[in-house]
Amino acid sequence: MNLFEVYPLNDIEIVKALGSTVWDAKGQEYLDLYGGHAVISIGHTHPHYVKRLTDQLNKVGFYSNSVKIALQVELAEKLGKVSGKEDYQLFLCNSGAEANENALKLASFYNNRKKVIAFKGAFHGRTSLAVSATDNPKIIAPVNQTDNVIFLPHNDVEALEKAFADFGEEISSVIIEGIQGVGGIREASVDFLKAIRKLCDQYNAVYIADSVQCGYGRTGIFYSHDYAGVEADVYTMAKGMGNGFPVAGIAIAPKFKPWHYMLGTTFGGNHLACAAALAVLEIMEQDDLMGNATAVGSYLIEQLKGFDAVKEVRGRGLMIGIDLPEELSHVKKNLLFTQHIFTGEAKPNVIRLLPALNLSQAHADHFLEKFTLALKEN
Ligand SMILES: Cc1ncc(COP(=O)(O)O)c(C=O)c1O
Repeated sequence: MNLFEVYPLNDIEIVKALGSTVWDAKGQEYLDLYGGHAVISIGHTHPHYVKRLTDQLNKVGFYSNSVKIALQVELAEKLGKVSGKEDYQLFLCNSGAEANENALKLASFYNNRKKVIAFKGAFHGRTSLAVSATDNPKIIAPVNQTDNVIFLPHNDVEALEKAFADFGEEISSVIIEGIQGVGGIREASVDFLKAIRKLCDQYNAVYIADSVQCGYGRTGIFYSHDYAGVEADVYTMAKGMGNGFPVAGIAIAPKFKPWHYMLGTTFGGNHLACAAALAVLEIMEQDDLMGNATAVGSYLIEQLKGFDAVKEVRGRGLMIGIDLPEELSHVKKNLLFTQHIFTGEAKPNVIRLLPALNLSQAHADHFLEKFTLALKEN
């Protein structure tokens, strides 16, 4: 059987990884500023993480949600504390798209409405309603097409007010990334997030903060939306949560009341997934990784702003977009194949840096040196 080829692959096979370094099958070393798409949060093969997962696997790896799983309670308590949302409730699932599906569904159960507001440039996943709320017609199959999603311009308070004035009683939820990732590292403005909060309160709609990429401490605070000083009703998370082990969740405000089978999953919240998520939070707390993301991220952003060739630098903490002019669209490939640095990208010419949150100052400097060289190559 062949693989179903949906991914354009780089001809590199990674066989070993440690911290922010990975090695390919030929022994070549790379600096990983991509983290496998913002997933590696505490660094590859972190010893505490490896030990916690190994110990758990030797006890019990999986049982379903038909029995008590004490690790889920431990995880909810720890996550509540580290994220500053101790009064929220946690539902565990397996991926970012699934987290968003559940958030949108929960909102609809809550206010018994159907319409969702999403924004230009948004990415919320590839399934069902999550893909319908994603601004990319190429990945929306006919079966996913729906009139229930209203797309509005990003950061346009007036357009948002008008949509609520026109459809207010029908709007179930507003879903927004704190910083658009796939959309090119574009931050939601403080005024915009405040307007979402106000209008959701006024019309009894649900504010869903998609924190799948921008969350979990990447920007220096746990959920990047909270820079606006207002809280969302539901935060969705995945990627960095398990440092590579598939685990996702939604943090749900106290006003939502569960009933049996309202939401559900076979794999979500299994023992191994919880052990992975706990190991991540333990290291985040112990090593102050949010503090490091702020410090090293601010340094990188400042330094990158000094490059004449760069059109614009956007982002916060360790979620950084380097917007290059079209004639430098080859720089990302140079970084990977000649300078041996993994980075992400956003169309058309944005290099995305999404490294582990314990990226060192020395690694940041190494990148800046290599970036200078990559800019000079053809
Ligand atoms: C903001 C955002 N939401 C949702 C998703 C979907 O996550 P997953 O690929 O785990 O389903 C992504 C993935 O890139 C994302 O960036």
